[in-house]
Amino acid sequence: PSHIAVLTSGGDAPGMNAAIRAVVRSAVYYGKKITGIYNGYEGLINGNFQELNSRSVKYILNQGGTFLKSARSDRFRTPEGRKQAYDNLAKTGIDALIVIGGDGSFTGAKIFSEEYDFQVIGVPGTIDNDLYGTDFTIGYDTATNTAIECIDKIRDTASSHDRLFLVEVMGRDSGFIALRSAIAAGALDVIMPENDTTYDHLVETINRAGKNKKFSNIIVVAEGNKLGNIFEISNFLKGKFPHLDIKVTILGHLQRGGSPTVYDRVLASKLGVAAVEGLLIGRNKVMAGVMHQQIIYTPFEEAITRKAYINPELIRINKILTI
Ligand code: F6P
Repeated sequence: PSHIAVLTSGGDAPGMNAAIRAVVRSAVYYGKKITGIYNGYEGLINGNFQELNSRSVKYILNQGGTFLKSARSDRFRTPEGRKQAYDNLAKTGIDALIVIGGDGSFTGAKIFSEEYDFQVIGVPGTIDNDLYGTDFTIGYDTATNTAIECIDKIRDTASSHDRLFLVEVMGRDSGFIALRSAIAAGALDVIMPENDTTYDHLVETINRAGKNKKFSNIIVVAEGNKLGNIFEISNFLKGKFPHLDIKVTILGHLQRGGSPTVYDRVLASKLGVAAVEGLLIGRNKVMAGVMHQQIIYTPFEEAITRKAYINPELIRINKILTI
């Protein structure tokens, strides 16, 4: 390619700015033109383009959010929207696209790339960590660090009042944030889509904690769990354990913001460079990822549809440590 475009799409994630910077700087390094597209696929359809240079991305490495802004675009799901997007790219002379985002963004990228035979590479940017083909997605490490900072604080007050807190963390369909936060914060249990927690199991766990003289407890609840809404879970437990003081905290979008951790900055830097270098060697319709310290390129199809793997070892460790 001679002219590359970059956009961020879907829910923002800390480290997206670092990834944009890496894409822009490596494109310049290899003598390519580089254009930033604002507002994700919406900006692609609206022609919201800005040519960038290496100085355009100064001082963003450490900033949360995405300076290119992000959106979830319904119009890009339509053939008319994608046609408009293609026309804008062709008119500007752009011949390759880098999409930084999650599974929804890659689904759109795949369809577009097939429809117009357009070269596209994805960079995994989502706090959820729910993509196959990379050990970590950009933003996951920062989000879990933010979550445990909050849970540590909740634990202080839980302990002072001998309370049980249910803490909801993000993860639309997955428990990656929940499990990692639960282990790092020493939570009593974790309710997530992957472990099919039942009410009986919860009752048993809380009874066991009582027998072991644990008077204050945290249970981490993944937003996408299958047991139920956190308030339903709390009401059920209040009915079963009327003597317990049970509180609910939802961490919500706190987890999406903040300065990226070292891990996320380095990962974003690696993947931004890998995306540009992948384009240069002719890779197409793939996501750049890091598995076992190696850069790998996984077809969009697989990245989206193969189930990202929750390490069973982490589930086992959590069970042992919450005795
Ligand atoms: O995909 C990232 C994520 O933060 C999910 O964990 C969450 O379910 C969703 O986005 C929330 O989306 P929105 O910010 O559009 O409400």
